[in-house]
Amino acid sequence: MNADATPSFEIREHSAPVPASERTGRIADPGFGKVFTDHMAIVRYTEGKGWHDAHIQAREPLSMDPAAAVLHYAQEIFEGLKAYRLADGGTALFRPEQNARRFQQSAARLAMPQLPESLFLESIEKLVDIDREWIPGAEGAALYLRPFMFASEVFLGVRPAHEYLYMVIASSVGAYFKGGAKAISIWVSDDYTRAAPGGTGAAKCGGNYAASLVAQAEAIRQGCDQVVFLDAAEHRWVEELGGMNLFFVMEDGSVLTPPLKGTILPGITRDSILTLTRDEGISVREEAYSIDQWREDAASGKLVETFACGTAAVVTPVGTVKSSAGDFQIGSGGTGQITQRMRDRLVAIQRGEAPDPHGWVKRLF
Ligand code: PLP
Ligand code: COI
Repeated sequence: MNADATPSFEIREHSAPVPASERTGRIADPGFGKVFTDHMAIVRYTEGKGWHDAHIQAREPLSMDPAAAVLHYAQEIFEGLKAYRLADGGTALFRPEQNARRFQQSAARLAMPQLPESLFLESIEKLVDIDREWIPGAEGAALYLRPFMFASEVFLGVRPAHEYLYMVIASSVGAYFKGGAKAISIWVSDDYTRAAPGGTGAAKCGGNYAASLVAQAEAIRQGCDQVVFLDAAEHRWVEELGGMNLFFVMEDGSVLTPPLKGTILPGITRDSILTLTRDEGISVREEAYSIDQWREDAASGKLVETFACGTAAVVTPVGTVKSSAGDFQIGSGGTGQITQRMRDRLVAIQRGEAPDPHGWVKRLF
C-alpha cells in the first residue's frame, strides 16, 4: 500500500465490553478524562509503506520498546474534540474537519507524516459508532475524543522517526472545571513562557503541555484554577491559558482576542466565537493586549468581561486575575452577559437546538 492510499478500518469487537449496568454508573457523573470506553482506533505508519493496519479494537495497554523514539524526544501530537448528543437523540461532531487539518499542521511542525483527513474522520466516526452507548446524556456532558500520534520507531538517533502509531481513544466527560461554568481564577506566570516565535506554540504537541505544567502547578499553589502565559519576547502581551484561548469584552460591547502569530494554538472554539460575534454585529478585533492594559482596563471599568474557551472548557468566565504585581477582578467577578450569550449560542448549535448557518455540525446518526 503506498503512502497516499487510505486503508479502511477493520472492526475487531471487544469480546468482553463493560456490562451496561456498570457503564451507566461510570458515565453518570464522569468528571473529565477518567472514564474510558471499550474500544480504540489504531493506524500504523511505516516509511515506504505508508498508512496501514487501520482497525478498531478493544481498548488495552500498549506494549512499547523502551527505545521507542517518543519516550526520548517527545515526537507526539494530539487533538481534542467531542461527540455531542443532539436534542433529537442523534449524535454529532462539531467541525471535525478543522481538527483533522490542525492535526496535519501539528504533524508538519513536528516532522511527522500527514494523516489523510478522510482517515482522521473515519477513525473518529467508527469509534463513536461502536462506543455510542458511552455518550453521557447529562447536560453539558459529551464523549471526548482524543486522537494522537507518536514516534514508535525503536531508535535513539535524533531525527524524524520512520514509524508512527496513530490512535484514538474516547472518554465520557462532564465539565472540565469542577465548578461547572462558574468563573475561574487565573495566575499570570512571571517565570515561565509557553511558546516562543519559531517554536511549537501553534502546534498541539505534548511537549507544549509538559512545559506548561510547572507554571500550572504554581497557579494551583497560588489558589488559581489556571495559568495565563505572556509572550516570550517582551513578557508583556497576554497569549493564552495552558489549554484555552482568551477573549476580552469591552464596556462599549466590542470584543478582543490575541492574534494568531505562531505562538498560540489556533483554537476551533476561538474561531467559532469570532464568527458568532461577527454574526451578531459585534465589533471584534484580533489584536495584542498587554497585561498592564488588562489590569488598567479592569480597574477603570473599560474592560467588563474576560472568558476562556476551548473544546474541554467550552466558554468559561474568568473572574479574578492574580499576579506578583497584585490581583484584579474582572467586572463583578462572575459571568458577564456576552460570555453567557456566547456560551449559550455555541452550546445550542453544538446540541442541534439552534440553526447551524455555517454547517459546523456533522451528524453521525
Ligand atoms: N489553547 C490551548 C493551549 C489548548 O490546549 C486548547 C484546547 O484544545 C485551546 C487553546 C482551544 O482549542 P479548541 O477550541 O480547538 O479546543
Ligand atoms: C481540549 O480542550 O481539547 C484540550 O486539549 C485542552 C485540555 C485542557 C484538555
